Amino acid sequence: MQTARELEVLRSAVAELRSGGGTIALVPTMGALHEGHLTLVRQAKEAADHVVASIFVNPRQFGEGEDLDAYPRQLARDSELLETEGTSLLWAPPPQEVYPEGYATNISVAVVSEGLCGGDRPGHFDGVATVVCKLFNQVLPDMAFFGEKDWQQLAVIRRMARDLDLSMPSVDTIHGVPIVREADGLAMSSRNAYLSPEQRSNAAALPKAMKDAIAVLAGGGDTQRALGNLRETLKVSGFDSVDYAEVRDADNLKPLSSDNGNARLFVAARIGGTRLIDNMAIR
Ligand code: PAJ
Repeated sequence: MQTARELEVLRSAVAELRSGGGTIALVPTMGALHEGHLTLVRQAKEAADHVVASIFVNPRQFGEGEDLDAYPRQLARDSELLETEGTSLLWAPPPQEVYPEGYATNISVAVVSEGLCGGDRPGHFDGVATVVCKLFNQVLPDMAFFGEKDWQQLAVIRRMARDLDLSMPSVDTIHGVPIVREADGLAMSSRNAYLSPEQRSNAAALPKAMKDAIAVLAGGGDTQRALGNLRETLKVSGFDSVDYAEVRDADNLKPLSSDNGNARLFVAARIGGTRLIDNMAIR
C-alpha cells in the first residue's frame, strides 16, 4: 500500500491505479480506525478493484472548544490495518496540503444540515461538505462509502452531490453502510476511547434506551412521551445530558411528530466530556 501526503503524489498514484482500467472506491476517515471503518473498507473492496482510504482530521469540521487537538492520531497503526484489508492507496495529507495559505471556499448545504448535530455543532456540516467535496475532487473515485452511524452527514453529502451534479462519485455511487456495533450494542466510534471503564459500561444504555423507545413508537405510542422517557432513562443511567432525541424522516430529515413509515430515531448524549450519537429505524 502506497501512502501519499502530497496532492501531486496522490494524483500520480491514482493515475497509476487507473491505468490498469480498474474501478476505484474512496473511504474517507479521520483515522483511529475501528471495525466500523474497516467494514466500510471491506465493502468498498468488494465493490471496486481498488480502495483508496483517506485519513485527515479535518480542522474545519471541529468547533471551538471541540476535541480537534485531542482527537486520536495513530497513523502507523491505521496504515497497518488498511494494508491488511487490501487498501491500495492511503491519502494522509497534512492540513496545509488541504487548506493552503489563502484558502477561502466553503460549501454549505442547507435544510438537511439543520438541527440534530448541525444545531449543536454550528459550521460542522459546512466543514464536512467542504472537505468531502475536496476529497472527491482530489481522488476522483467511481464510488465512495460512508457509515450510517453519521446518518445526517451521509444525507448532507448526498444532497451536495445531487445539488452540485458531482460525477466522481455521483449521488448514485455514494453508498451507506449500516452501523457496526460493539457486543453490548454501543455504536463503534473513535470517541469511545475517551470513556473511562465505568462510562463505557454506562454508555450501553444509549442503544438499549433507543430500542425501548422504538418498541413504543412502532406500536403507535406517543412520540413526545417516548422521547421524554428516553431522556430520563439516559440521565439515570449515567449520561450527563442529552443534546437531542428526535424522530425525523430518514430521507429529508424533516422532524416528525409520529411515525410516517420512514421514520428514524436520532439521539446525541454526553457522558462526561464525550458526546455519543446513534440512530435507528423505527421499524
Ligand atoms: P470518521 O468519524 O473517522 O468516520 C469515517 C467513516 O466511518 C464515516 O463515514 C462514518 O460514518 C463511518 N463510521 C464510523 N463509525 C462507524 C460505525 N460504528 N459503523 C459504520 N460506519 C462507521 O465521519 C468522518 O470521519 C468525517 O466526518 C469525514 C467523512 C471523514 C470527513 O472529514
